[in-house]
Amino acid sequence: MGGMQIADIQSDIDHELVSKQQIDAKIKSVAKQVSIDYADEPPLLVAVLKGAVNTLTAFSQALSIPVQMDFMSLSSYGNGTESTGTITVRQDLSVDVRGRHILIVEDIVDSGRTLNWLMGELRDRGAASVEVFALLEKPARREVEFDVKYRGFEIPDEFVVGFGLDYCEEYRNLDSIAVLKPQVYQGEHA
Ligand code: IMP
Ligand code: MG
Repeated sequence: MGGMQIADIQSDIDHELVSKQQIDAKIKSVAKQVSIDYADEPPLLVAVLKGAVNTLTAFSQALSIPVQMDFMSLSSYGNGTESTGTITVRQDLSVDVRGRHILIVEDIVDSGRTLNWLMGELRDRGAASVEVFALLEKPARREVEFDVKYRGFEIPDEFVVGFGLDYCEEYRNLDSIAVLKPQVYQGEHA
């Protein structure tokens, strides 16, 4: 067996910003509040693929109210760490949102352009209400202001991976939020 290198995502991590335990606790506390706020009007949870999937899964399982879920695939980034500034719908919702109370579940608010666009789009389509739960926010990078009603963690201006967030489509399966070693970002993918 000698000489075989076992790939290990942990070995690419420089430092952890939010632990699995912190994520779990935060999601549970937000879910508790949302279960109260939406007790009389079950929301449609809208998750932005693919990054919000881990948050949606944990969050929806922590809710005590009935919900429906739908997905939208938007592209605001190329294959690197910089925003392209243009938002394209890669895959649309499968339901009509007219009259629905929408709770968007997002992994991170960076510039805010993606969510700002999506909130406007869902309102234009006739949603009864549109609110946001974002697991992470990078205040230093924010360009567009809007209200994030349900908030997770504020993080510094560093490119993070894990709990759904990727770098070149990898590291989504990490169970915490972390910053990769500089040599990973400077690797052949970049
Ligand atoms: P925004 O439109 O600039 O707010 O960017 C939103 C999207 O960019 C997020 O939903 C993520 O998919 C991606 N993104 C922003 N910051 C990061 C990061 O640090 N790591 C991974 N993806 C990120
Ligand atoms: Mg996202």
